[in-house]
Amino acid sequence: MQQPEVAGFHDARTGSIQYVVACPKTRRCAIIDPVLDFDEKSGSTATTNADRLLEHIASHDLTLEWILDTHPHADHFSAASYLKARTGAPTAIGEHVVQVQRIWKDIYNWPDLACDGSQWDRLFSDGDTFRIGDLEAHVMHSPGHTLASISYIVGDAAFIHDTLFMPDSGSARADFPGGSADSLWASIERILTLPDQTRLFTGHDYMPGGREALWESTVAEQRRDNPHVAGRSRAEFVEIRQARDRTLPMPKLILHALQVNIRGGALPEPETDGRRYLKIPLDALPGSVWGR
Ligand SMILES: [Fe+2]
Repeated sequence: MQQPEVAGFHDARTGSIQYVVACPKTRRCAIIDPVLDFDEKSGSTATTNADRLLEHIASHDLTLEWILDTHPHADHFSAASYLKARTGAPTAIGEHVVQVQRIWKDIYNWPDLACDGSQWDRLFSDGDTFRIGDLEAHVMHSPGHTLASISYIVGDAAFIHDTLFMPDSGSARADFPGGSADSLWASIERILTLPDQTRLFTGHDYMPGGREALWESTVAEQRRDNPHVAGRSRAEFVEIRQARDRTLPMPKLILHALQVNIRGGALPEPETDGRRYLKIPLDALPGSVWGR
């Protein structure tokens, strides 16, 4: 079993984990789920997180081959577009992103949005393979949190994004437009058929109880300890997930982030004054719990 080098970078602001996965032999690597910093209070953007990934790549003598996203995120902007401009490396996401584009095209009333995935260099299908140096990477469609979510399996490492969090933190929510608790269960079941010692790298960690940020577990640990899966049936999981989701307000950046992330992390084009603007639809997500 191939053993890639994996470095995780936790962004405390959004609880996201960004990864650099590298081939130990060829020093070629991929970035997974990079964050473009955004402060919703001032409207400021920054590239601190993404530059940290580039510094890691430079200081470890790595060559970037891929800029990957697991899904269109609702809590942060993807830095894929910025990193592509900086490095020339190709970007990729799951092919079902085109359906997510269609959902949000309506929500933003955005007739000009191309809903063909042309904003990425490659759209992956379930079962696709690609290389990171000598490592063979496999794509597993793993919907539920979003209908387009995919996991990347590289040797003994699986990047499972917002399916399972750490074993003390349950699973990801499944109530965004296009989400499904039932699909999430099926995706989790599939991930947990990987070998017991597979290293699972999650997409978020919110440091419950004030513990340090953690992002790596194994299939065996998840099966044994995660309260959303250990000893659970599909029906129990769906009930737990849907009950919890009914209590959750929308992520504070969902309306900011999707308009960026369905374009591969490209910020809106500048207007005539040279400034970029976001567009926030009102009353577009009916039934949402109000945030505090
Ligand atoms: Fe997410």
